[in-house]
Amino acid sequence: MIKNKGTKPYVRPVIKKISFGDTVKFKNEHMKTPAVKALEGLSVSDLTDRFGSPLYVVSEGTLRRSFREVAQAFTRRYPRTIIAYSYKTNYLSGICALFHSEGAWAEVVSGFEYEIARRLGMDGPSILFNGPYKKPEEMKRAFLEGASVHLDSFDELKMAGEVAASIGRKVNVGVRVNMQLNYPAWDKFGFSYERGEAFEACRQIKKHRYLQLSGLHCHAGTYIIDLGIYRRVIENLTDLSLDIQKELGREVEYLDIGGGYPSGNSLHTQLMPGYTIAPPMEQYAETVCSVLNGKLRSFTKAPRLILEPGRSVVDEGMHLLTKVVSVKERQNGNRAVIVDAGIHLLPVSAYYRYEMSSNRDSTPTTEDVDVYGALCMQIDVLRKSVRLPVAQAGDILTIHKVGAYNFTQSMQFIYPRPAVVLLHDGRAEILRRRETYEDIKGPEAIPARLLTYAAKPKR
Ligand SMILES: Cc1ncc(COP(=O)(O)O)c(C=O)c1O
Repeated sequence: MIKNKGTKPYVRPVIKKISFGDTVKFKNEHMKTPAVKALEGLSVSDLTDRFGSPLYVVSEGTLRRSFREVAQAFTRRYPRTIIAYSYKTNYLSGICALFHSEGAWAEVVSGFEYEIARRLGMDGPSILFNGPYKKPEEMKRAFLEGASVHLDSFDELKMAGEVAASIGRKVNVGVRVNMQLNYPAWDKFGFSYERGEAFEACRQIKKHRYLQLSGLHCHAGTYIIDLGIYRRVIENLTDLSLDIQKELGREVEYLDIGGGYPSGNSLHTQLMPGYTIAPPMEQYAETVCSVLNGKLRSFTKAPRLILEPGRSVVDEGMHLLTKVVSVKERQNGNRAVIVDAGIHLLPVSAYYRYEMSSNRDSTPTTEDVDVYGALCMQIDVLRKSVRLPVAQAGDILTIHKVGAYNFTQSMQFIYPRPAVVLLHDGRAEILRRRETYEDIKGPEAIPARLLTYAAKPKR
């Protein structure tokens, strides 16, 4: 910026070439920058004035709609369907409780998540306990409370046998199966289908005095837009369960096909917006249920179908509001907009191109800007090249559809974490208050020998 004789500061104009995207049929998508001044009828600036900025906001209506879309697509085709909400995607208690009020079971992957589910009133039989690491005491609790524990390895199978023996009665276990479905393969988890490990695990369980095989599980990845993957998962799980029925004389009670269904977001690597590429939920349901219904006559008893959605039910129902703190020009001529959020609140922005809008009305010229966070680190980029009205400090940006994996992976880093509010019926209710100094520094201790230095810095 060059001072211009005491009048208005001079800002160098930015010349941009018209990009290819402006001339194709999706040009409107590319150009549009409608202002978002309110969410669910509540002004974004009133919300940030009241609860502080940044602020996570959750839409109850959207969460319920997203959940019902999955549940209805599947139960209409296969009534014995159970939806278990994947806690790790976003385990804010209010969000889990909302999904439970829709009939969801809990899918947990640690003793900590198991505890959240129990404190929310879920009973053991409505909890699926997944994950590669369960402590013996956590497994014991899950067995005693009747949860379904999905075994991940032969080491865990051995441990489960010992834990069950210590209880002295039969307990239910499921087997997590991995398959050659995608590249890179999700083969860190469970027992290989193709190498026969999964069948072998089931055989060992059948032989065990205190273990009983209840179900088969496969979770093949996340944001899976290839329906063929789900077709192969359900085909392989049904074939394996029929082999078990025939050769081991055991009927499995359920087939659990995991999560992985996409939301309307787009990956950085996708040219087109994600919602124009991802199949609708009805097609996932049709793919899975047609295979299952086609093989139903071979089962002595129809198994339950279990789904463990996370992203597809929670992503679109949560947004992040953040205030513009400054606007500056970068050396490459692009304008940089610096906001008071950061990648510590939005870690998944490393993979997803989140939509952003401003509460400012569209200006005659819009521009592609780079949106940086408030962390004192160059890597804190929330979005490169997003088209916004010409921004000014004080504008409020809405970063849309950030419900999956951001809050649970967010951290306090130089700033305490912001509040989370639930929008419902024209009101905003607290789901989590803003963190305080005590929330972060409270658990710390200073060894007595260092106290003097803490009190009096050495000069
Ligand atoms: C075992 C299991 N089930 C379900 C999910 C939820 O996946 P998504 O959010 O892709 O639906 C995950 C997430 O990684 C998982 O590990």
